[in-house]
Amino acid sequence: MLVTGSEILVPARNGKYGVPSFNTNNLEITQAIIHTAEKLRSPVLVQISEGARKYAGTEDLTNLVADLARRASVPVAIHLDHGSSYESCLSAIKAGFTSIMIDASHHQLAENILETRRVVEAAHAMGITVEAELGRLGGIEEHIEVDEKDAFLTDPDEAVQFVEETGVDYLAIAIGTSHGAYKGKGRPFIDHARIAKIGAMLSIPLVAHGSSGVPPEIVQRFRDSGGEIGEAFGIADDDLAQACQHGIAKVNVDTDLRLAFTVGVREVLQKNPKEFDPRKILGPARDLMAQLIEHKMKVLGSAGKA
Ligand code: 13P
Repeated sequence: MLVTGSEILVPARNGKYGVPSFNTNNLEITQAIIHTAEKLRSPVLVQISEGARKYAGTEDLTNLVADLARRASVPVAIHLDHGSSYESCLSAIKAGFTSIMIDASHHQLAENILETRRVVEAAHAMGITVEAELGRLGGIEEHIEVDEKDAFLTDPDEAVQFVEETGVDYLAIAIGTSHGAYKGKGRPFIDHARIAKIGAMLSIPLVAHGSSGVPPEIVQRFRDSGGEIGEAFGIADDDLAQACQHGIAKVNVDTDLRLAFTVGVREVLQKNPKEFDPRKILGPARDLMAQLIEHKMKVLGSAGKA
């Protein structure tokens, strides 16, 4: 069933589990996400970025996801990932999204508040729930001084002010994760004390971006099938499970499915150079994505919650 983001995330926050929000661009990724959610009885968010809207067409992709979501036996929300403007958020709502993110985190606090509040007012009038971001994600190098490092991570007092003044429904916080396959030189540092502090001060669901696990065995299969990739690192399963105990309720994952998709395609083409049936090429990719999705739902604790 198609629901808003809050309908999935408020129970998750209260029940101390996380729900994955996976990026999609096409049919196979969307099916892997929604069919696995049904298999595991897990709620799920399917997120679409502005890049995905450009690639697949907002209407084409939204209608595809919405149709699968409506027919699903578990709650599914269609979420706008990193909406860059009021206009982008409004057009997403018009297209059928049930959850949107306005990302004005690169602005100063006052401007981030103004922009977010404007989107929240419009979205709430249409019954849609909203995510915003405070703090700045990025790889954190060990040589960075504490003060400088802190400047990028979300300040707990500012987070409280931000939520009070914007009325936002769920908040993305910077806690040490970062986007992409290269999250650090070794296991990334996750600031659990900061998560616990913000989680104690705010009762709304918190969001962790950049939460792919970048599993070593998938990275190895990528290399073994002819792919080139450097020293890739992701967020450890136990870090995510711990974060969900302290307030993280939405966990964003894109890179893991990109890697799984590409490994699936590469392995088929490497093993069967004569193959040119798209179903035989994309089917195994869909299966491999489903395996990673299943793992994430178990780690976060969303499996069995729908
Ligand atoms: P990953 O790059 O870790 O998958 O994070 C994706 C993300 O946060 C999208 O908003």
